[in-house]
Amino acid sequence: MTTADRQGRLLAISDLHIGYAENRALVEQMRPETDDDWLLVAGDVAETVADIRWALETLASRFRKVIWAPGNHELWTHPKDTVTLRGVARYEHLVEVCRELGVTTPEDPYPVWECPGGPVAVAPLFLLYDYSFLPAGCATKEEGLTYAHGTGVVCTDEHFLHPDPYPSREDWCRARVAETERRLAEIPAELPTVLVNHYPLDRHPTEVLWYPEFAMWCGTRLTADWHRTYRVAAMVYGHLHIPRTTWLDGVRFEEVSVGYPREWRKRSEPPGKLRRILPMEVGSGDRGAAPGVGRGRGGTR
Ligand SMILES: [Fe+2]
Ligand SMILES: [Fe+2]
Repeated sequence: MTTADRQGRLLAISDLHIGYAENRALVEQMRPETDDDWLLVAGDVAETVADIRWALETLASRFRKVIWAPGNHELWTHPKDTVTLRGVARYEHLVEVCRELGVTTPEDPYPVWECPGGPVAVAPLFLLYDYSFLPAGCATKEEGLTYAHGTGVVCTDEHFLHPDPYPSREDWCRARVAETERRLAEIPAELPTVLVNHYPLDRHPTEVLWYPEFAMWCGTRLTADWHRTYRVAAMVYGHLHIPRTTWLDGVRFEEVSVGYPREWRKRSEPPGKLRRILPMEVGSGDRGAAPGVGRGRGGTR
């Protein structure tokens, strides 16, 4: 069968947060459109390994391939989880769980999408953040955190996302960025890419956050040119809980989050709808529009 014969779709979702029963019910309803569909899961599945396993196993049983990138919630060492691993050890444990389930992780070879819209290398990334998306007027992480504590908008990662054995989350981030650059450089030059990361690779999506100081926990400036460097057909991310499409330098950025019930209940779109990444839907997005188009309330996760 050739690429043109297949009808598969490359679909995406993130921020399932299935600790909420209503969100678990959404996952139970998620189905592919064709037998060849792949599903990108861009992080924040749940906080416990048991819940993460349930969701990924459920989806892997339905889709031809499931590709996962971790969110900050998966990396928390949460008091309600019986798995008490921290930092790198927790991440590596989650990678092992995915391998048991046949789910592709950032540690695996990047699969190539050969259906309509392809061929495209699909790269799940794990990059974290380094506090370089600072609030206006702040020059350092310390100043940024002081400001955030003053407004009361402080990410729960500060309590539960441990960087062990790295001394800090920003050190872990820098190591991940360096290793990922090496991996991405190995993708054959003729292949475009779809990059899947919990955080946007560029800061522009955070400009509509209701609490702009939350941007500190939303990515790193180290990846600001990646959408131009790696022949990116689409950059898929979540975390902001502001689902929308933006364009930057001709590259499509897709925020694909479900978010919390209190967030999705306010939206007109039905919750849990999978976003089609490839083949691109005619008329999708705001091609050529300024990145700030589609301004919405800021999510804070
Ligand atoms: Fe989230
Ligand atoms: Fe998140």
